[in-house]
Amino acid sequence: MNASNKTDPVTKVRHFLTLTDLSADEFRQLISRAIELKAMQHRGEIYEPLKNKVLAMIFEKSSTRTRVSFEAGMAQFGGHAIFLSPRDTQLGRGEPIEDSARVLSSMADCLMVRTFEHGKAELLAQYSSVPVINGLTDDVHPCQLLADMQTYLEQRGEIKGKTVTWVGDGNNMCHSYMRAAKLLEFKLNIACPEGFEPQQKFIDECSDHIEITTDVSAACTSSDLIVTDVWASMGQEEEQKVREAAFNDFQVTSELMKLANDDALFMHCLPAHRGEEVSAEVIDGEQSVVWEEAENRLHAQKALLEFLLVN
Ligand code: CP
Ligand code: NVA
Repeated sequence: MNASNKTDPVTKVRHFLTLTDLSADEFRQLISRAIELKAMQHRGEIYEPLKNKVLAMIFEKSSTRTRVSFEAGMAQFGGHAIFLSPRDTQLGRGEPIEDSARVLSSMADCLMVRTFEHGKAELLAQYSSVPVINGLTDDVHPCQLLADMQTYLEQRGEIKGKTVTWVGDGNNMCHSYMRAAKLLEFKLNIACPEGFEPQQKFIDECSDHIEITTDVSAACTSSDLIVTDVWASMGQEEEQKVREAAFNDFQVTSELMKLANDDALFMHCLPAHRGEEVSAEVIDGEQSVVWEEAENRLHAQKALLEFLLVN
């Protein structure tokens, strides 16, 4: 798909539901703009391109970083964000997504949604007259990849041609890493237990850039970046025990980090479970950039909001 296909043909609205809603050039431009916006913010420069603009945020799952980064970003841009949870909106009492989309988009300038089925975010976008941003679905987490790729660039420069290793579940984060590998042209090793591989449609789409294995040591050898995520994602809480057993050999440890290149980084979208998917020594160690990565959610999403609402 190229960039010209990314606009809804009926509404002419540009959404950000997955990374490939951006062209590779747009992805790179967003990252460099995020770096500029970060410098401006750190200098204390006031920049309010979204004065009087409103972002309505629907959260059907928990969040710390996504909620606070969007809310802070809108405030810094001179606008406002509204937090909507199913507990206290009519969405939680069964009001159809299509109706909610029409109503919310008649009042707000942008919608953000964190939900379970990816199709729900797509339906929201289909009926919204304003841009819809995906703040995580069961399938993908594209906003996190904007921040992760910004962090890699800031710390180590160009990622094209580098080797990234994903350790653990073939989940929403893994799928977004696969699409990032395709767009930014890096090699992605995916080390996951049998039965926890990424979905076939993502494998088919990104096959030129990925390699899937159960051999975690081989996957980490000579890597430039090692990334992991929780063993049980939101909505999979009941599988926790089964998953703990299946993922037992898939913890990112110092021994694994030693197999990677000397200047390899460690990333995790957070929240993390020390002693499960990553040892405390690694996540709190020198190669870990998880705090920079978390802060970059703010700057990268400000670049995204500016891209969707101002440009
Ligand atoms: N990484 C991430 O999306 O964090 P939250 O679940 O806290 O938003
Ligand atoms: N894979 C995790 C990511 C949390 C930010 C989840 O979906 O719960």
